[in-house]
Amino acid sequence: MKNPIIAAIESRVSTNLFDADKALTDEQIEELARLATRAPTAYNLQNWRFIAVRTAEAKARLRAAAYGQAKVTEAAVTYIVCGQLPSHTVMDGRLRPSVEAGFMPATMVGAWAEAVESTYGDNPQMQRDEAVRTATLGAAFLMFAAEAYGLATGPMVGFDPTAVARQFGLAADEIPVVLIAVGYAREGNWPQKPRLPVSHVLETI
Ligand SMILES: Cc1cc2nc3c(=O)[nH]c(=O)nc-3n(C[C@H](O)[C@H](O)[C@H](O)COP(=O)(O)O)c2cc1C
Repeated sequence: MKNPIIAAIESRVSTNLFDADKALTDEQIEELARLATRAPTAYNLQNWRFIAVRTAEAKARLRAAAYGQAKVTEAAVTYIVCGQLPSHTVMDGRLRPSVEAGFMPATMVGAWAEAVESTYGDNPQMQRDEAVRTATLGAAFLMFAAEAYGLATGPMVGFDPTAVARQFGLAADEIPVVLIAVGYAREGNWPQKPRLPVSHVLETI
């Protein structure tokens, strides 16, 4: 039998058609976010936030901000995956549990905070890149967590980030990076599209 992770990678599709009659429980919605946060982030910054849009009223607002994409109202839930601009000020809280768990020396906390400050402090481009990287990895983990539970997913960049930020109360340091619709697929979705040959995209040196 094929390894289930590899099978999921090879079978996942970007779902366009969702069964609008099937919901997810709050526990399922939380479980997917929990697994998404197992993705790695630079310095363990965990500079992300997930807004799970699942009520009819909130879905209608998000759909309007997503150029009317039907997935937003038809899927059981759509996560707004936000990346946050990195700040050294969060590092103590992010790393203290690793110190308390006994594997990270306490002296490292300050060193990592300094590294965060010197990496991103006066570099808005790096800050934004890191927010996008973090949210993207979180979104990927969320998609495969959903696959593991037999759910379908549809990533979307077709939305107005300003409208999403305003409608859903994002902070000034938060970027709405990608929407992930999650639910149950209905008939008619396409299979995974063929990819370029690996030789086309891989350079081994
Ligand atoms: C970052 C990102 C943004 C996307 N945005 C949209 C979107 O707004 N609307 C949509 O219908 N599909 C969107 N897609 C789906 C892509 O078209 C799809 O992933 C691609 O065609 C490959 O399809 P497959 O993964 O099913 O093979 C998006 C995919 C990604 C990764």
